[in-house]
Amino acid sequence: MPGRTQVGARINGEQIDFLCDPWQSLLEVLRDELSLTGAKEGCNNGNCGACNIVLNGALVNSCCVLAAEVDGGEIVTIEGVADGDRLDPRDRPPPVRHLHAGLHRRREGAPRSRA
Ligand code: FES
Repeated sequence: MPGRTQVGARINGEQIDFLCDPWQSLLEVLRDELSLTGAKEGCNNGNCGACNIVLNGALVNSCCVLAAEVDGGEIVTIEGVADGDRLDPRDRPPPVRHLHAGLHRRREGAPRSRA
């Protein structure tokens, strides 16, 4: 059985090193190891978007990314875009605005855009 893997990533502007099992999803590590619970576990198979984060500038489902794959990466979670208790997605970079717009559309039952 392989040992734990050391991973380093810039998370919400801070360089963070952590250990993970090779099969652990990024969502598990964010929530269970790093206490960043803003990304939620919904379907755990890439369909609901509750676990969305920005990884290297792209919106991804963190339940579908292995934590070991993000070594050297840049991650922004919802905690990284909040200003204390205030969260205004209109003030945030495009990937984050898209995150909020996509989640809103899904809640309203609108079809997803292809953009
Ligand atoms: S938990 Fe549903 S897409 Fe990740």
